[in-house]
Amino acid sequence: MTSESAPPRIAPGARLLVTGGAGFIGSCYVRDVLARRDGTRITVLDKLTYAGNRANLEPVEQDLEQAARLRFVQGDIAEPGIVGPLVADADAVLNFAAESHVDRSILDPEAFLRTGVIGVHVLLEAVRAASSAAGLAGRPPVRFLQVSTDEVYGSVEDGHSTENDRLEPRSPYSAAKAAGELLVRSYVVTHGIDAVVTRGSNTYGPYHHPEKLIPLFVTNAIDDQPLPLYGDGLQRRDWLYVSDHAGAIDHVLRHGTSGETYNLPGSAEMTNRDVVAALLERLGKPWSLVRSVPDRPGHDRRYALDGSKLAAIGWHNRTSFEDGLAATVDWYRANERWWRAARSGDWDAYYERQYGTRLAAGQAIGRDAGLTSPDPGR
Ligand code: NAD
Ligand code: DAU
Repeated sequence: MTSESAPPRIAPGARLLVTGGAGFIGSCYVRDVLARRDGTRITVLDKLTYAGNRANLEPVEQDLEQAARLRFVQGDIAEPGIVGPLVADADAVLNFAAESHVDRSILDPEAFLRTGVIGVHVLLEAVRAASSAAGLAGRPPVRFLQVSTDEVYGSVEDGHSTENDRLEPRSPYSAAKAAGELLVRSYVVTHGIDAVVTRGSNTYGPYHHPEKLIPLFVTNAIDDQPLPLYGDGLQRRDWLYVSDHAGAIDHVLRHGTSGETYNLPGSAEMTNRDVVAALLERLGKPWSLVRSVPDRPGHDRRYALDGSKLAAIGWHNRTSFEDGLAATVDWYRANERWWRAARSGDWDAYYERQYGTRLAAGQAIGRDAGLTSPDPGR
C-alpha cells in the first residue's frame, strides 16, 4: 500500500487543537478545514499577541454550521494549566503558535524563546501525558504536528535543502524554531510520542500581518509611502501561497509518518526585487517608491527546499505565484479596514524603531541596478 492510499492518521470528524490559530497561517488552516464541513471540531488556543487577530476567524464565526464546531480560548501555550486540559480533549495538536518576525527577533528576542522553546515543551509534556492516558484506555495517542520553517537550514547559497541536512539557524527567530524542533524529536525518541514536523517556505496571502515583506510593501504602496528594500534586494525566497501551506500541513497531519520531518516548498523562487516589481505592477504603482535601505543583520541570502519527500506522500501545491499574488494584492485593496487596524496600537513605534534611521539613509535604486548579467531567476 502506498502512503497516499493508506488510511489517514486523523480522520474527518476529529477533534483538533490549533495553537496560534488566530494568526496568518493558523487561521487559514482553521478556515479551510472547517469549510470542508466534514464534522471536524477545532479548538483554537491563541494568546492574541500583536500578530493574533480574532477578525481572522470571522468567516467561520459568521457561518452557523462552522461556528458550532469552533471554540476559541485566549491563552499562552507556555502555561501548563491552560494547555493540559485542552490537549487531553484532542485527537491531534497542531502548533502554529510562535513569534514569527525575524526583524523583531533581532530587536527583542525573549518572547521568541518563551514561546518557541518553553511553549513547545509545555505542549509536548501535555501530549505525553494525554497519550499515556489514552493508551491506558485503549485509545490511539494524541498526534502532535510542529509547524517549523525552512529558516532552520540557514542561508542556502546553492542547491536545495533536504530534510536530513544540518540545522544552521542564523537569527534568534530561526534558532528558537530549531530548538522547538529538536525538543519534538527528543520526545519522539525518549517518550515515544506520535509527532511530525513541517518546514514551510516563505508564505504569503490574505490576512498576513503588514510587518512582512509582501503585505508591508502592498499597504505602503497603496498609501504612496516608500518601500524599504533591504540591501541590494537580490535575496531569494521560494513563495508559498497560504492555503497551499495550510493544505500541506493538513496532508502531513493525516499521512505523515511519526518521527519524520517534511519540507513544504513554495511554487516560485524569486529575488525580492522581482517580487516587489510584480506587486507594484498589480497595484499600478511606480518603482520609484522603492528605497534601498541598510540591510537586516545576518540576512539569509537564499532559502530553497527539496520537496520530494512531501510529493512522495501525495501533496502538490495548487496556486501559482501569479494567481496567488493577484489574489493577495486584491484582498488588501478590498480590506483596508483589516490592515489599517493591524497598523494601529504600537505599530508607529515599531515602524520608527525598525525603519526610521534606515529610511533616512535610504536611496532610490534602479530596477536593474547592479545586475551585471540578467538575473537567472527572471
Ligand atoms: P503569525 O505571527 O501571523 O501568527 C502567530 C500566532 O501565534 C498569532 O495568532 C499569535 O497571537 C499566536 N501566539 C504567539 N505566541 C503565542 C503563545 N505563547 N501562545 C499562544 N499563541 C501565541 O505567524 P504565521 O506567519 O501565521 O506563522 C505560523 C507558524 O508558521 C509559525 O510557527 C511560524 O514560525 C511558521 N512559519 C511561518 C512562515 C511564514 O512565511 N509566515 C513560513 C514557515 C513557517
Ligand atoms: O522562510 C520562512 C520564513 O519566512 C518564516 O519562517 C518567517 O516566519 C517569515 O516571517 C518569513 O521570514 P523572512 O524573513 O524571509 O520574511 P520577511 O517578509 O520578513 O522578508 C522577506 C524578504 O524581504 C527577506 O529577504 C527580507 C526582505 N525584506 C523584508 C522586510 C520586512 C525587505 O527587504 N524589507 C522589509 O521591510
